[in-house]
Amino acid sequence: MVNESLKIQNVVIVGTGLMGSGIAQVAIESGVNVIVVGRTQEKCIATKTKISTGLARSAKRKFADSAETQSQYVEAALSNLKFATELADVNFSESDLVIEAIVENLKVKQKLFSDIEKVVSKKCIFATNTSSFQLKDISSKLGRQDNFAGLHFFNPVPAMKLVELVRGDETSEEVYNALFSFCQRLGKTPVRCKDTPGFIVNRLLIPNLLDAMKMVERGDAEISDIDTATKLGTGYPMGPFELLDYIGLDTMKFIVDGWHQRNPEDDKFAPCEMMDKLVSEGKLGKKTGEGFLKYNSDPKRA
Ligand code: NAI
Repeated sequence: MVNESLKIQNVVIVGTGLMGSGIAQVAIESGVNVIVVGRTQEKCIATKTKISTGLARSAKRKFADSAETQSQYVEAALSNLKFATELADVNFSESDLVIEAIVENLKVKQKLFSDIEKVVSKKCIFATNTSSFQLKDISSKLGRQDNFAGLHFFNPVPAMKLVELVRGDETSEEVYNALFSFCQRLGKTPVRCKDTPGFIVNRLLIPNLLDAMKMVERGDAEISDIDTATKLGTGYPMGPFELLDYIGLDTMKFIVDGWHQRNPEDDKFAPCEMMDKLVSEGKLGKKTGEGFLKYNSDPKRA
C-alpha cells in the first residue's frame, strides 16, 4: 500500500537524450507533470520536437480514425511538459521524483546527485536510469540513500514494457513501493531486483554476447552460423552479432571494461580482443555502417 505522501505526480527528468526524452514522453502521456532539465536551450527545443513526434506516433496508433482526437491527445500531453536549463530554475519543493538520465559517467552522475540532494525536499525520491553502474557506486556519498533507487527503462522507452526497479541496500520500502506504482501508472511492467552488476537483463545478456564472440575467437563456429542458430534454436528475434551491432560495440566495450575493472576475478566479464579491435577501427555497429556486419541497403557479413 503506497503512502499518500509518496504518490508521484511531479517529476523532474535530467537529461535530454534518447532515454530522457522517452521517459518524459510516456510520463506526460500518463498525466504526470514533467520538467525536463537540459544543458542548453537548443537541446530542450530539439527534445520537445522529438517528444512531439513520439506523441503524434502514439496518438495515431490510439486514435487511427480521428485526426482531431490525435491532435487533442498530443496537446493534452504537451501541456504536462516544461523545460529548464539549470537545476536552479526548478522548483524542487513541488517535486516528488527526480530521474537522472544523463551520460553514463560515474563522476558526472555522482556530482549531479550531490547537487540535487542539496535542493530537493525531504520527501523527494531520486532515481538513476544507469545501465552499467551499481547504485552504491553512484550514491555512496549521498546523505539520503533511503530515498534513492534505480529505474532502469529500456530503449525505445515508449515501446519497451520493462522497467527494472533496482533496490539499493538502504532504499526504503515506501520509496520502492511508490516507484513500483509509478512504473505501472506509466503502463510499464516493473520487475524487482537487487543492486547487482547488470541487474537482471544485462547480467544475463552480456556474458552471453561475450561468449558468442569468444566462440568465434576460438574458431568453434562462424558469425553467420551463430546468429542463425540462436534465432532458429531459441526463437530470439536477433542473433548475438546482430544484437551487438544494434547496441553499439563502443557501448558494449564500455560496460564490459567497467565490470571487468570492478570485478577482475570474474572471468564472465573478461574483455574480448575481437570487439576491442573493431572499436579501435571505428567499426561500432549499425550506427557507423559496420561492426560485425556491414550495413548497406542489403546487410552483408563484415
Ligand atoms: P544520450 O547520449 O542519448 O543522452 C545523454 C544525455 O546526457 C544528453 O542529454 C546529454 O546532453 C547529457 N550529458 C552529456 N554529458 C553531460 C554532462 N557532463 N552533464 C550533464 N549532462 C550531460 O544517452 P542515453 O542513451 O539517453 O543514456 C542516458 C542514460 O540512460 C545512461 O545512464 C545510459 O546508461 C542509460 N540507459 C541507456 C539505454 C540505451 O539503450 N541508450 C538503455 C537504458 C539505460
